Amino acid sequence: MKSYFIPEISKNIFAVGAKDYNRTIFDALIPLPRGTSFNSYLVKGDARNALIDSVGPGFENEIMGKISQLIDPSKLDCLIMNHAEPDHGTAIKTIMSNTNATLYATEKGASMAARFHGAPADRIKIIKDGDKLDLGGKTLRFIEAPWLHWPETMFTYLEEQKILFSCDFFGAHVAYGTYENDVENLNSLAKSYFSEIMMPLRAFCKKGIEKVNALELSMIAPSHGPVYRDPAKILGHYRDWIAGETKKKAVVIYVTMWNSTEEMVKIMVESLETNGIEVKLYNIINAETDLLAEDLVDSRAVVVGAPTVLGSLHPLIMYNLNLIKLLKPPIKYAAILNSYGWGKGAVKQAVEIRESAKIEIVGALEVNGPPLADDQKSIIDLASQLSVKMA
Ligand code: FEO
Repeated sequence: MKSYFIPEISKNIFAVGAKDYNRTIFDALIPLPRGTSFNSYLVKGDARNALIDSVGPGFENEIMGKISQLIDPSKLDCLIMNHAEPDHGTAIKTIMSNTNATLYATEKGASMAARFHGAPADRIKIIKDGDKLDLGGKTLRFIEAPWLHWPETMFTYLEEQKILFSCDFFGAHVAYGTYENDVENLNSLAKSYFSEIMMPLRAFCKKGIEKVNALELSMIAPSHGPVYRDPAKILGHYRDWIAGETKKKAVVIYVTMWNSTEEMVKIMVESLETNGIEVKLYNIINAETDLLAEDLVDSRAVVVGAPTVLGSLHPLIMYNLNLIKLLKPPIKYAAILNSYGWGKGAVKQAVEIRESAKIEIVGALEVNGPPLADDQKSIIDLASQLSVKMA
């Protein structure tokens, strides 16, 4: 019989999830340079056994194999569904079919478990915030955490061992490693994950982190990425990111067709840097969306370099401006640089998109063709105005 490596992350708590080393994109939107993991935890109590979250498509046999390696599957009593999204819920159907487990979920989660994963109604138990489940020597407390990351989401807290099973909250897309020190560059991966999944929901994150702050924690075990044996660092980052703390940092996104926009962008970047602003430059043609999203978490300004195409904003810029609007970063200021050949129009569109995202437009320059001496001065002036605002 196939044998699996199953880390015991704490006494009688086993990581039985799956690692997807080959997945390259999430939500058909965000690149995954280091794959991802779908973490699931088997908690063995003296009286009952519980599984917290399951795994995504293609890993159903793996999780059943791991459960069977640890216990007789007929002895799995409880399946805790912190979140119904298919990356954590797809294996629910297989697990329910091969065990007698009762599924525990919030009220919204219960209907999603039935609709998305075919969970039978008579085997679902609806829980409320603060409800507890006694496994014998291990007590699970359920903490409703709506919109982290869907409306039905909750956390599960193991009282005796002070472990928070937070599902998407505190997650990172990385297949490698079990604990935080196993993962190089984890801060960057966790920040990128936050930007894509949690940043658009910061108002709910504020409520969620307050609930986490009230807990005594020895460990955070999310459902993507490594387990945190020392939660202080990731908690500190989350408090900053959720608060929307920004730096004197500008994200510059641009595309260029005949280099005129790029020349404008170069003048802007060098001026900003001279003024002490940290600049992160993305030519959208080559940019990795995960890195751009990560930089949006703590940038105070965005500079958009956009050529005009057929009297319109370049479509790649339009796409990225809409993406930024969806992610709702705490950016406060914007500047727009545009080069056009024979017709204007792009700046007006860019300004409208930025204003609808409630970002103050400090200035917008339209240049016919390449920037000449007067244009260079205007760009340097705009960089100065933006730098003053960002100070
Ligand atoms: Fe990892 Fe919202 O699912």
